Amino acid sequence: MSKRIELKDLDIYYDKFKAVEGVNMSIDPRSVTAFIGPSGCGKSTVLRSLNRMHEVIPKAWVDGEILLDGDNLYGPGVDPVLVRRQVGMVFQRPNPFPTMSIRENVIAGVRLNNRRISKSDADTLVEKSLTGANLWNEVKDRLDLPGAGLSGGQQQRLCIARAIAVEPEVLLMDEPCSALDPISTLAIEDLIDELKSEYTIVIVTHNMQQASRVSDRTAFFNIAGTGKPGKLIEYNSTKQIFENPVEKQTEDYVSGRFG
Ligand SMILES: Nc1ncnc2c1ncn2[C@@H]1O[C@H](COP(=O)(O)OP(=O)(O)OP(=O)(O)O)[C@@H](O)[C@H]1O
Ligand SMILES: [Mg+2]
Repeated sequence: MSKRIELKDLDIYYDKFKAVEGVNMSIDPRSVTAFIGPSGCGKSTVLRSLNRMHEVIPKAWVDGEILLDGDNLYGPGVDPVLVRRQVGMVFQRPNPFPTMSIRENVIAGVRLNNRRISKSDADTLVEKSLTGANLWNEVKDRLDLPGAGLSGGQQQRLCIARAIAVEPEVLLMDEPCSALDPISTLAIEDLIDELKSEYTIVIVTHNMQQASRVSDRTAFFNIAGTGKPGKLIEYNSTKQIFENPVEKQTEDYVSGRFG
């Protein structure tokens, strides 16, 4: 588990609109990479291109290559469903399936992948995934109650349990804490720190403290103006980005002197 991701000359379009231009970067396995930058600069767009969720949007397309340990995710014959199994995603708003129990939510992804699974294997997987998501102790006595009945922070950890149950190589998170209180946010940050020993993690965040707490490397994206494509301005160790950035744009942004 855990693979290197390389983006090569990546341009990302919504129909004729080029939303992101010329991104080149290499993301280490077993590390956390933060994507930061102003609203509309393309962070979510780049993130969604990493598991071929971008093309789910009508007329959305990608030019360039994304390699997962050397294999192009956009190569001919590559099945996007298999890509999404290897590259899991957690969204801004916790989105457990509302009609499913906690247990069913955890194994939902495995079932979607058409893997038949015995009752005892399912029980083992549910416990392992919920333990991995730091949620087991809080829910072990109510696995058959609806996932929607948990608190927001618990729901987000349930979604992380669902994502890791399919044993992906990479975990993408798009502002996973923006709907959570500070305590739940710290719980998710601790979890991210634990998960990085097994996964390649990419997290989009507007919270500078969060980026500096959880990530090893930070990518700063920016946009030159409305209608212009977003670009990767600087990609470096998180320490360097926040303490001694190379680009003036980065410095202005991380010090709050933006706009
Ligand atoms: N479904 C879509 N259809 C058309 N254009 C889109 C779509 N989603 C995003 N865009 C455009 O692509 C550009 C990048 O948007 P994106 O959502 O990636 O920005 P972001 O950096 O994630 O912003 P935020 O911080 O507000 O989440 C914006 O100009 C946006 O309007
Ligand atoms: Mg976004």
